[in-house]
Amino acid sequence: MKITVFKDERTLARTLAAHIAATLKETPDLVLGLPTGRTPIRLYHELGTRHPDFSRATTFNLDEFLGIAPDHPGSYRAFMETHLFSRVNLPPDRAHVLNGASPDPEEECARYERAIADAGGIGLQMLGIGTNGHIGFNEPARELAARTHRVTLKASTRRSNAALFGGDARGVPKEGLSMGMATILQARRIVLIATGKSKARCVALVVKGPITTRFPGSFLQLHADVELMLDEAAAGGS
Ligand code: F6R
Repeated sequence: MKITVFKDERTLARTLAAHIAATLKETPDLVLGLPTGRTPIRLYHELGTRHPDFSRATTFNLDEFLGIAPDHPGSYRAFMETHLFSRVNLPPDRAHVLNGASPDPEEECARYERAIADAGGIGLQMLGIGTNGHIGFNEPARELAARTHRVTLKASTRRSNAALFGGDARGVPKEGLSMGMATILQARRIVLIATGKSKARCVALVVKGPITTRFPGSFLQLHADVELMLDEAAAGGS
């Protein structure tokens, strides 16, 4: 696992945006896997400022809430529109986010897997990580799902998403749809970003903890091309 530590969040976001821009130049038809959350916001705004050419790229978001429409202001689709899609020239029909309002969530998950395969698989998967070790909505559990699936969200995950739903965790959907562990681990390259002191313990477990379904991020140790991009605070425990 390659670990790169930056002096602050801003430098991290700038460096990663430059890396993505260079990758897009080299591989214009890049397939990117994307997270939401607090961590990638600066990166997305950096990309919006730099304007790398996304015209031939394709993106797949990791997860979405179940039971809300794509145009619901709390949806991850809305988050992506605000922070990235409206700021770059990515064709709307190639910006994929799971549809949380699908009448058949299981079919929606199967359709998403087919769409990723049809796009040639994910070339560069960006990830954030929850303090409990979740990646996407793959929460700590006795078993983890391999493929895109329906998931019950932990109370802690609902609390950390409360801001999207007027600050009230009770308003956050109880379920979500998420890429599975194999969907994520089959990406050719993975870059996980983590910033702030609250992430130091989980970053240390990603790097050198035991591989366990109780800490999904630990599975990244099985991938041959993972880079952790951290600020000094998040690197504190590793
Ligand atoms: C969301 C996702 C989550 C977040 C994680 C960290 O699409 O994939 O796993 O990456 O919850 O969230 P932040 O960045 O808000 O700390």
